[in-house]
Amino acid sequence: MERTLILVKVDGVQRRLVGEILGRFEAKGLKLVGLKFRQFPREVIEEHYGEHRDKPFFPDVVGFMTSGPVCALALEGPEAISVCRKLIGQTQSREADPGTIRGDLGISRQFNLVHGSDSADSAERELALWFSDEELVDYSLCDEVWLGD
Ligand code: CDP
Ligand code: MG
Repeated sequence: MERTLILVKVDGVQRRLVGEILGRFEAKGLKLVGLKFRQFPREVIEEHYGEHRDKPFFPDVVGFMTSGPVCALALEGPEAISVCRKLIGQTQSREADPGTIRGDLGISRQFNLVHGSDSADSAERELALWFSDEELVDYSLCDEVWLGD
């Protein structure tokens, strides 16, 4: 089992797509283990995108992601990290495959609706940044037997 950090970005919230996006992960079989919704401080967003600190788009993405509320999700499932990245699609929404969240719902590179951790190390780092241990919920779902390996 893996856990991964998903953000419905500011554009996803503004476009009223929180339910649609969360619904895609739920329908796939991922389990919601953490959820929060608010406008987050600049320090959290800068830390989250720390690997991009020296890239030209860094100020823009930080400005965009601090401009309004974001919905943070922690999701659990078998190979959750790569499964969620597949559901999300490529960074440039215009090139993302139909069937993916970005491919179906977006047309922008910056405003690409959703973030998903890209590796086990990123997931660990990002989950610790966005959620405390107490905010991640351990519980069973009645259909889990049908969603395993
Ligand atoms: O989100 P993803 O992992 O697919 O892409 P990334 O390369 O880690 O970039 C992080 C985010 O920065 C993207 O999701 C875009 O919102 C933004 N970005 C951008 O505005 N312009 C770029 N050239 C690359 C990324
Ligand atoms: Mg990334």
